[in-house]
Amino acid sequence: MRVFVATNNPGKLRELRAIFAGSGWDLESYLEYAEPDEGPISYGDNAALKARALRAQLEAAGIDGGVLGDDSGIEVTALAGRPGVLSARFGGAAASWEDRRMALLRELASEGSDDRSARFVCVLHFVDRAGREFSARGEIRGSLATTERGSAGFSFDPIFEYPPGARTFAEFSEEEKNAVSHRARAAQALLDAVRAAV
Ligand code: IMP
Repeated sequence: MRVFVATNNPGKLRELRAIFAGSGWDLESYLEYAEPDEGPISYGDNAALKARALRAQLEAAGIDGGVLGDDSGIEVTALAGRPGVLSARFGGAAASWEDRRMALLRELASEGSDDRSARFVCVLHFVDRAGREFSARGEIRGSLATTERGSAGFSFDPIFEYPPGARTFAEFSEEEKNAVSHRARAAQALLDAVRAAV
């Protein structure tokens, strides 16, 4: 099945393509995809917003296929769950991924808490060719490292240890991360829901 992914983040697309490999879903990007403005609402609302926006853009271009929206974030317990849905813009719109990691570690240090626990959350929203909508969520609990380690993955991966105190996601191979990640868990739940509805 041909499925377009509503993202401009190559790291996410790469992971999703690997996760869905062998599922019968053939994931591709739409280069002209114009990302809608996300609200500080919820992962589910944002994922649906992205999927529906891409569907409308594809329809306008006369392209047929399913669409998949992904909204995700990192939630730090000692920061009351921040940055959460605002993760992509944490530290300012112009910040690099490294800037965002440093900003998060600084904010946790200034909180003065010993609790370094955190989780990644992902919601996937799928609209099939007939317009039916499905949503699924996945999460993974770990902890924040004190300094970054590793060079794989993207964004907060170099400071996210899984399990707590062990390697960071940036020290995982792609296969290892995709075996346990919030995105892989959401994908499995989504595939189960879609297959159950057929
Ligand atoms: P959005 O879903 O595109 O709005 O952005 C989610 C943001 O959450 C990303 O830009 C990252 O900062 C963070 N994030 C979500 N999933 C991951 C992951 O697997 N690794 C590292 N950072 C992630």
